[in-house]
Amino acid sequence: MKKTTLLLGLAVIGIGAAQAADPAKINWSRIPAVTVPLFYPGQSSYEWLRSDAHKGAFKEVIRGDSCTSCHDEEDAEKDMGEKLVKAGPLEPRPVKGKSGHVDLKVQAAYDSKNAYLRFQWKTDNAYPGTEHQYLRFDGKEWKVFGFPKLDKVVQDGEQMGIYEDRMSIMIDDGKVAGFANQGCWLTCHDGQRDMPKQFTKDEVAGNAMLQAIKKNDVRKFLPETRTDPSDWKTGKSVEDLAKIKAAGGFVDLIQWRAHRSNPVKMTDDGYVLEFRLSDGGKDMFSSNADRATHQPKFMWDAKKVGYKSITVDQLRKADHSLIREQNAVPFDPNAGWKEGDMIPDYVVSREDAKGSAADNNAIATWKDGMWTLVMIRPLGLGNNDDKMLKAGGVYNIGFAVHDDNITTRGHHVSFVRTIGLGAKADIKAVKLP
Ligand code: HEC
Repeated sequence: MKKTTLLLGLAVIGIGAAQAADPAKINWSRIPAVTVPLFYPGQSSYEWLRSDAHKGAFKEVIRGDSCTSCHDEEDAEKDMGEKLVKAGPLEPRPVKGKSGHVDLKVQAAYDSKNAYLRFQWKTDNAYPGTEHQYLRFDGKEWKVFGFPKLDKVVQDGEQMGIYEDRMSIMIDDGKVAGFANQGCWLTCHDGQRDMPKQFTKDEVAGNAMLQAIKKNDVRKFLPETRTDPSDWKTGKSVEDLAKIKAAGGFVDLIQWRAHRSNPVKMTDDGYVLEFRLSDGGKDMFSSNADRATHQPKFMWDAKKVGYKSITVDQLRKADHSLIREQNAVPFDPNAGWKEGDMIPDYVVSREDAKGSAADNNAIATWKDGMWTLVMIRPLGLGNNDDKMLKAGGVYNIGFAVHDDNITTRGHHVSFVRTIGLGAKADIKAVKLP
């Protein structure tokens, strides 16, 4: 009895545990805001930036000069984005009605436990992009319904554009050569999905490195992982990649996902090295399609939400996340399915998320056409796939927003910035009392 009282007493005054702020109660009006302009980059790849097409600038880019040493005019990002979002040499598949730029408001704070990054941005649509691809019953089979807007099937009007909103950051602690000057553009290459000279299945099957890491497409990578940084096909050996990783030569990639992480108040946690990889452990989202039958694994629990599936007319009228431990039950193949019934293609679970992949938390709301998001990142992470943030540290950081049902390069991105935890930087994180 006495012991319990003592323990309770200690908990109340916080002895023995590092103090963490309640992120819902941080007074953000007292924390300075920086507006970071994001722009639509089209297909401006690592390779394009180093070609003749990048007018008179390729030598400087190869030399490692910063993008902003030239692109420093007022409204540079806005002007570039408005141009690149339209059909042109860097955009073969323009998306109708898409904004060329987005202003991202950034605020940062930290305490002895966490860094808190707050973001606000306006969405193109009058609804939050919280829905993602579905499995739809066509009378016989369950098939994927809804695709990102750069896909041909959407552009040709054969499929509806459905994809979750995302807000992503890439963090470097100074160990990735060139990132401080050229940021995310180090990771964006020809050959990747939706980029020029997109990979073929045969090319991927013939690539020793991708086979060794069991991948069947080409995603973000850092130049250091290739013997020729401008050719994704020239991957280094897994032994060499392990050495680069052990030396910290990767960037952290944290993605807040409006459908696949936000319903359980998290962001995902990944990194970019030879590929865009998830951290060790287990993500908070997984496929809801049975690999063999392509039937859903879970459906909504009608006792809790009032329905076991939805139809297309209900899209965007309510929250439609499928959370394993909250509103889902195992799929019943004999529940009288009708053509047009739809169940989310992904299931989300906080309980299932594990290890390094489950480090980050998030709180977000969408109101009056604007997302407000707070990412919560623990300080002092010692995992081999995380950048460790600590008080006094300064990091290079790039920002990206995926808006209006799109993925891959269809985002708005920033030139690189610095963020300092109590230290001088473009964005200064304020120490919370
Ligand atoms: C040495 C100066 C210089 C550097 C360094 C430089 N650029 Fe450029 N960039 C230019 C010039 C000049 C143009 C052509 C502008 C025009 O046509 O209006 C250009 C055009 C572009 C365009 C196409 C915009 C358009 O209007 O068609 C993109 C995208 C771009 N640069 C991105 C970058 C990025 C990203 C970096 C850093 C990795 C970078 N640039 C570094 C000078 C530079």
